[in-house]
Parts: sequence; C-alpha cells; structure tokens
Amino acid sequence: MCSVNPKPTDPGRGQRRYGLFASAAFRLSLVYLAVFAAFAAALIAYMAWSTRVILADQSRETIAAEVRGLGEQYAAGGIQQLVAAVANRAEGPANALYLVTSFAGQSLAGNIAELPVETLRGDGFYQVPYRHVADTDDMTREAEVRVFRLAGGFVLVVGRDIGDRIAFERILTRAGLIAAALTLLLGIAGGVYIRRRILMRMDAMSDTARAIMGGDLSNRVAVAGRGDEFDRLGDSLNAMLARIEGLVRGMREVTDNVAHDLKTPLTRLKARAEDALRAIDSGKRLSAAARRAVLEETIAEADHLISVFDALLAIAKAEAGEGARQDRVDLAALAEVAAELYAPLAEDAGIALRVDAAPDCIVLANQVLLARAVSNLLENALTHGRRDADATVTVTVTRQGADALLTVADNGPGIPPQDRARVLQRFVRLEMSRTHPGSGLGLSLVNAVAHLHNGALELDDNAPGLRAGLRLPLAGERAGDDGSGGA
Ligand SMILES: Nc1ncnc2c1ncn2[C@@H]1O[C@H](COP(=O)(O)OP(=O)(O)O)[C@@H](O)[C@H]1O
Ligand SMILES: [Mg+2]
Repeated sequence: MCSVNPKPTDPGRGQRRYGLFASAAFRLSLVYLAVFAAFAAALIAYMAWSTRVILADQSRETIAAEVRGLGEQYAAGGIQQLVAAVANRAEGPANALYLVTSFAGQSLAGNIAELPVETLRGDGFYQVPYRHVADTDDMTREAEVRVFRLAGGFVLVVGRDIGDRIAFERILTRAGLIAAALTLLLGIAGGVYIRRRILMRMDAMSDTARAIMGGDLSNRVAVAGRGDEFDRLGDSLNAMLARIEGLVRGMREVTDNVAHDLKTPLTRLKARAEDALRAIDSGKRLSAAARRAVLEETIAEADHLISVFDALLAIAKAEAGEGARQDRVDLAALAEVAAELYAPLAEDAGIALRVDAAPDCIVLANQVLLARAVSNLLENALTHGRRDADATVTVTVTRQGADALLTVADNGPGIPPQDRARVLQRFVRLEMSRTHPGSGLGLSLVNAVAHLHNGALELDDNAPGLRAGLRLPLAGERAGDDGSGGA
C-alpha cells in the first residue's frame, strides 16, 4: 500500500517518461560523480597549495640569504659599502630586486624604481606591486620584498619578482577549473548513458510483466547471457514464471477434469429424478419397491459424488503438503490390517490374498493417509487384477537401503509401460477398466501421499500383472534421529 506507481492506469508500452532525477541509476551516478569530484578537487587544491608553499619558502630563503650577505657588507663598511654592493648586485638577474633609500626616501642604489610608500615605512616581509628601473609604465609587477630599517633612517629592500609564480598559479587554477568542468560534464553524460542502459533492460522486464498480466503466461524475461545482475534477476523471474505457469496449467487441468467428470454422474442423477417425476405426473402409481429403488440409486449416485469430492480434497491437501504427520508406522502391521480388511472381498471373488512383510520397517508418516493409500492399491489389485481361481494378490514389505518398500502385486492384465505415468493423473482410467466401478482418483491419491512423505509410487510389471510399490524413507536408525531432517 505504500508502493508508488506513477501511472497505475496507463498500461501502454513506452509511455513511461519519468524525469531524469527519478532514475535510481542517474541519482547513483550523480552521487558517484559528487564523491569523485570532491576527491579530485581536494587533490588539485592540495597540489596547488603545497606548490605555492614550496615556491614561497624558496624565495624567502633566497631573500634571507641576500639580506645576510648585505648585512655583512653594511657591518664591515657602513652605508657606502652597502650602496656599492647593492648597485653591484642590481646589475644581476632582473628578478632579483634591491633598493637602498635615504631617510628622505630617495633611492641611493638598486633596480626598484617605485614601491608603495607604506611599504618603505614598514619593516618585514611584504607582497607588493613595484616598478623596475627598466620599466616605463606604472607599478605592474608583483614582488615579495623584505624591508629593513637601518640606522640613520636608511632603508634596505631586498626582494624577488613573483610574476612567474603568479602566472604558474593562474595556470594551475585554470587547469583545475577546466578539469572540474570536464569531470562534471563527463559524469553527467555517463549518468545519462548508464540510466539509458539500465532503463532499457528494466523496461524490457516491465514489458514482459505487462504481457504476462495480459494473460500470456508463456512470456519470459529476455536474458542477455552476460551473467550480470539483470541476467540473474531475469533467470530468477523466469524460474518463478515457469513454476507459476506449471501450477496454473495444473490447476486449469484439474478444474477442467473435475467439471468434465462430475457432469456425467450429476446428469444421471438429474435424469433419474426427472424419470420418477414424469412417472408420477403421468398418474402412474409407482410401487413402494420402485420408489425405494429410485431413491436408493439416487443416494448411491450422491455417495459416489461425495466420495469423488472427498478424494479430490484429500489429493489437493496432500499435494499442498497438508497432513504431514510423524507417526511411527510399522509397515508390516499396516499391511496386515489392510489385508484383513479386504480379506472378505478377496474371498468372495475367489482371489488368494497373501501378506509377506519384513518386521521393523518403521516409517514416519501420517498413519491414516498411509492406510488409505494401501487400501487403494489393494482395491485396485482386487478389482482390476485377475478375477478367477488362479488370481493372487500379494502384499510385501521389504527394506531397500534407507527405504522401505511396500508392494501390492497381482497377476492380472497390468498396466502397459506407456500408460504408467498417465494413470497417476486425476480421473484417468484405462479403457479396459471402464466396466469396473471407480473414479480414476485412487492412484492420484497414492502418488500424492507418497510425495507428501518424501517417497514415491512405483508401477512395475509383475509379469503378468501389476506390481505397485510404495517407497518410503525408513525412520532414522541413528540415536536421536526422529527423521524430521527430511524436507
Ligand atoms: N492393479 C491394476 N491392474 C491393472 N490396471 C490397473 C491396476 N490398478 C490400476 N489400474 C489402472 O489404472 C487406472 C487408474 O486407477 P485408479 O486411479 O485407482 O482409478 P480407479 O481404480 O478408480 O479406476 C484404473 O482405471 C486402471 O485402468
Ligand atoms: Mg482405484
């Protein structure tokens, strides 16, 4: 209820035009871009800062060394020697700057033509504009200077032109800005591209979902085969769709079968009641016996219908995993009881019924369901098997490795191999059995009960006849094993 569907009423293809910022892929790439840009900016800023510090330290060190040298000259020969030294040094490289002024601010020597007045009044390091003696224009150059006040009002200025440094810093700043702009541009373009790619595959998936919602259960999500997240999602979805399709198909078949197979007995029921009614309407007086017969037949038909519904319900429950209990069932005892139950029927039909059961074959199962399954197998052997003096039905219980096998074998016509899978389906009855009573649900129930208990129903040739085997895992013999480990 908290899910947001932007256009729930619009099932059309290609109608989705969500904004760029609504795309998770785009937002993610923006976050990635922001982190990346912040990192790049920090890196560039650090580089610019440390270059600046190194260059500034260097120029200050040179200035300090020069000041020391000139200081020695001053100490040795006073202002004259200093002026001479400065005049000498001022002939050197143009970026080395010197100036000595008198107390009145007049230049005595040096290559600095002009400096801001406040600077000359100060003392210490300054970054200031200046004019070189070779220049004719204004103070357009930048310098870092050390101003020294000497005795007698003389001022010594030693400096370095920092034009190159400023240009270098400017280049660095511009490069940083261009890099940032490029990063931003490329990042956004990448985000748009990734969003397109992801959106394309997501859209393909939602198109498939819509097609399936439209009723085409056989539709599947396209898998690119690259083994990426989308492929894995697609594979999972497809597996789920296959399972759902199978279940839906199975359910549809069951519903069809039920509708088809219950129609006949219901129609019969109705016809019989109508016949009786017509007889009454025509003024014919039905004898008490005839009335009774009609009612009894009606009840028998209704009983049959009830038993069919009952069996259908039992199968559905077992297939849904309901009724799985953990009773300790001794298969030998179960076989004996079932055989005893069917002994009168077998005797009436002249069929020899034998039990040959190994002791201590214990399984963990729902005893009631298991008894019902064995009864169904016995009933089949007695009704569909041979029905003469040579007829025998044998119930055996044996161990086979970790399994117990309970078989019910007869020497009748058996079931042809090609029909053995088919007869496990609901309502399937072979042509030769049409004359026997039944509804075609017995083996379906046995099969469902076998699967409910992690076992299987095996139909084999008894040469001649059918050998129906109920294979079930034995209860664990290890101490403490209650068998609940089975899925
Ligand atoms: N012991 C058997 N010998 C021969 N055919 C059998 C035997 N058991 C079952 N069948 C065949 O399998 C069909 C399905 O069996 P079942 O599901 O028990 O339905 P029903 O017994 O109600 O017909 C039967 O109709 C019959 O054709
Ligand atoms: Mg049967």
